[in-house]
Amino acid sequence: MTVLLTGGTGYIGSHTATALSEAGHEVILLDNFCNSHRAILERLEKIVGKSVPCIEGDVRDTALVKRTLQEYGVEVVIHLAGLKAVGESVKTPLNYYENNVHGTLSLLRAMDEADVNNMIFSSSATVYGDPQYLPIDEDHPLAPTNPYGRTKLYIEQILEDHVRANDNIKVVNLRYFNPVGSHSSALLGEDPRGIPNNLMPFMARVASGELKELSVFGDDYPTMDGTGVRDYIHVVDLAEGHVAALEFLPRSTGFETFNLGTGSGFSVLQVIQSYEVACGKKIPYQIVKRRPGDIASCYTDPNKANAVLKWKANRSLSEMCLSSWDFQRRLN
Ligand code: NAD
Ligand code: UFG
Repeated sequence: MTVLLTGGTGYIGSHTATALSEAGHEVILLDNFCNSHRAILERLEKIVGKSVPCIEGDVRDTALVKRTLQEYGVEVVIHLAGLKAVGESVKTPLNYYENNVHGTLSLLRAMDEADVNNMIFSSSATVYGDPQYLPIDEDHPLAPTNPYGRTKLYIEQILEDHVRANDNIKVVNLRYFNPVGSHSSALLGEDPRGIPNNLMPFMARVASGELKELSVFGDDYPTMDGTGVRDYIHVVDLAEGHVAALEFLPRSTGFETFNLGTGSGFSVLQVIQSYEVACGKKIPYQIVKRRPGDIASCYTDPNKANAVLKWKANRSLSEMCLSSWDFQRRLN
């Protein structure tokens, strides 16, 4: 199929483009580079062994997106473009609603005008908010606790309404848990601008000596060792989940949601331990107070994705840490 990836040069987009291309699909990327670099494209092309069209532009530019869809004969849009920093979204909510929600509306208009009827959407486990039960399945109540999460929930609702009103529109809604790690070539990976917000990229920079020590946000949660527990998923498994979602689209009847995670939770201390083995050195850390808004534990029930998408996240925590470290070493 011919697939447009909005946000296609970002962390998840670049890995997804690789997996799709390897599965024989044609990919076109569209990105405004607000959180990525053009250099990613060269690395991506090196991995897939052919040139990949990449349009520099914003999803809010309806005319540009429509032209792109028509010019390349796009059949499916994977909509990854968005802002994703929880803390930043609390400080500048309008930027988040403007970019994420308005961006999606503009994209949907362009798709309507170009008669493109299929979308895979990048949502997040953050839409569930504080878990009422574990593991979290797709029917868990939705109650995001920050503006970023609310942009994802509102987009999901807009997409569901759009599907309900149009028999020919299909949307696969993917709620990612915690994507980490890097492509096996070490050419693609997570390289956030500034100081990383998330655990694994922060730890990678501590391991490389760029940052002095890791702060562990709280050791008094009701978990196995008191530190936060998350469902870390290897980004290559996640990318393959998009290939499975694409192959599921013809079988889908309208709007379908899937959680993408492994189903296993690891604590911050367990991740540190695994990273220390991967990089062969100690990660200096200190326990500090809880980060506001954090929850104790979050992991998925992966059964629906496993059964319906015929996809499973197989890569271990150790592979996640090793690949993250390989990528980090290449950067330094
Ligand atoms: P990323 O920042 O690496 O990638 C997003 C890409 O979108 C970037 O390349 C950015 O330049 C581009 N972009 C942003 N706004 C745009 C716009 N208006 N027009 C065109 N391009 C734009 O982030 P990522 O980790 O690859 O995340 C991809 C998607 O997955 C996001 O929607 C994010 O909310 C969602 N998600 C990510 C995580 C995670 O932990 N990484 C978890 C759950 C969901
Ligand atoms: N943590 C630390 N120190 C750090 C960073 C994180 O101890 O420097 C801890 C957190 O307290 C948490 C765990 O590591 O217990 C994971 O934190 P991350 O920031 O890596 O990930 P979150 O689970 O908080 O959130 C991430 C994304 C969200 C997304 C969510 C999906 O940031 O956007 O995963 O589950 F929605």
